[in-house]
Amino acid sequence: MFAQCLLKSSGCPAGALTLPDKILQMQFNTNEINELIRSRRAIFPKSYLPGKPVERAIIEQLLENANWAPTHKRTEPWRFQVFHSEESRRRLSEYLSGFYRKNTPPELFSEEKMKKNSENPLLSGAVIAIVMQREPAESLPEFEEIASVAMAVQNMWLTCTALGLGCYWSTPKAALMADEFLGLQAGQRCLGLFYLGWHEMPELPGKRAPVEEKTVWL
Ligand SMILES: Cc1cc2nc3c(=O)[nH]c(=O)nc-3n(C[C@H](O)[C@H](O)[C@H](O)COP(=O)(O)O)c2cc1C
Repeated sequence: MFAQCLLKSSGCPAGALTLPDKILQMQFNTNEINELIRSRRAIFPKSYLPGKPVERAIIEQLLENANWAPTHKRTEPWRFQVFHSEESRRRLSEYLSGFYRKNTPPELFSEEKMKKNSENPLLSGAVIAIVMQREPAESLPEFEEIASVAMAVQNMWLTCTALGLGCYWSTPKAALMADEFLGLQAGQRCLGLFYLGWHEMPELPGKRAPVEEKTVWL
């Protein structure tokens, strides 16, 4: 009965959706979407509220939205490792700081950076390792798979913004070379870490050069 009412605009019981109502519901509020996209900011762990956990259900919502990114040939190349428990974030902290200590030449070594490597996972509610999985036949160029994963990350980032959750994508060498730490399988490549945590920052102004400077109309 309900399905029929979606196909006919007359003869429906009171309160049932008619087709035109359904179409109206499918239209999104573009002002809100514009605002969401333009107000999305990178929010760093130093601004996260210490000790305020991010519930698993929230992270599952981010991952579900990531899973709806576009994907050429439906390869769905995004894979995630969620460092949620304090113990796992501590392991990540030790890995990142250990990597930095071992791989930074003395003249470039900074105590400040070392501290950040160590503290950031512990200040966060969770850290998600972003991994790209190539399909075995490698029928697509790698850039298409990376682009798809980046769109999945943007889905998470926008969802965080809508929820008031701070987040950012971090790409230190330690993450890009974390194959062994993450136990990556054949065809997998780590594209960085997605940090997230609750925050109370005021809305931050974004900086962008005008799009007109980047566009040619033909
Ligand atoms: C692929 C990618 C990698 C990034 N890696 C880093 C990073 O390693 N460190 C960092 O501070 N920010 C990183 N960012 C976040 C940018 O610094 C941030 O998006 C940029 O400053 C613009 O700020 P906004 O996102 O708040 O507009 C990365 C962003 C992207 C898309």
